[in-house]
Amino acid sequence: MEMKEWATRILSADTLEEKLFSPDILTDQDPGPAQFWKDPCRPPGMGFQRHTHKEKLPAFHEHRNPDKRAVCLHRFAGHELLAVEIMAHALVAFPDAPPHFRRGVANTLREEQEHVRLYIARMQTFGLKFGDLPLYRHFWAHIPFLTSPIRYINVMSLTFEMANLDFAPLYGKSFARVGDEESAKLMERIVEDEISHVSFGWNWLKKLKQPEISEWEAWSQELPPLMTPGRARGFIVMEENRRKAGIPQEWIDHIKQA
Ligand SMILES: [Fe+2]
Ligand SMILES: [Fe+2]
Repeated sequence: MEMKEWATRILSADTLEEKLFSPDILTDQDPGPAQFWKDPCRPPGMGFQRHTHKEKLPAFHEHRNPDKRAVCLHRFAGHELLAVEIMAHALVAFPDAPPHFRRGVANTLREEQEHVRLYIARMQTFGLKFGDLPLYRHFWAHIPFLTSPIRYINVMSLTFEMANLDFAPLYGKSFARVGDEESAKLMERIVEDEISHVSFGWNWLKKLKQPEISEWEAWSQELPPLMTPGRARGFIVMEENRRKAGIPQEWIDHIKQA
């Protein structure tokens, strides 16, 4: 199947199966013309809701309660589905990006689909179905800004996925602390994949940026107007995960100040 066709199917899917469809063989003979979507189609009951304060993520001290852990897993699955769609959008929006870049986005997209499946399977053991709780627009709010591959990697790989190098292990540790080894293992798997997703972004930032500016400048100057570098980290900066992704110490020191 052509990448463009696959990505369009994901964006226009009105079933979860179709959102998670992944063909065995992907080709990229005919990537153009560029398409920009304002919003994706969504399966019935999985449309975007307005975020209210009532729907804050359960606090860490509440994780002993399995229902609260299930709420966390549902929220994370929502983020993964958004990542699937944003990556599909990158495939339809950037037909002229280097073929190797497109291939990397497609491979990452497949892993995000797998993350959705893993979270769905886990939340089911707590009696929760994906879509039972509200889902939010979140990453899609930034789509009007994602007009080039470098902006895409800056926001997706080097901000949201970068921040998950801090958040995912924190939740994993908390789940392990209350004896939920299965959920903890799932978070470990997510961190491992996220390290490679951040690494993808970092390698492409180096290739795509203007040679006369530093990576830090290329990233921090090309963020959406309301997004600050602080969005690329959690309360605690997990330096080791960033080092595994190939991020140099200089960048890590910058992020710690953010
Ligand atoms: Fe993911
Ligand atoms: Fe990811």
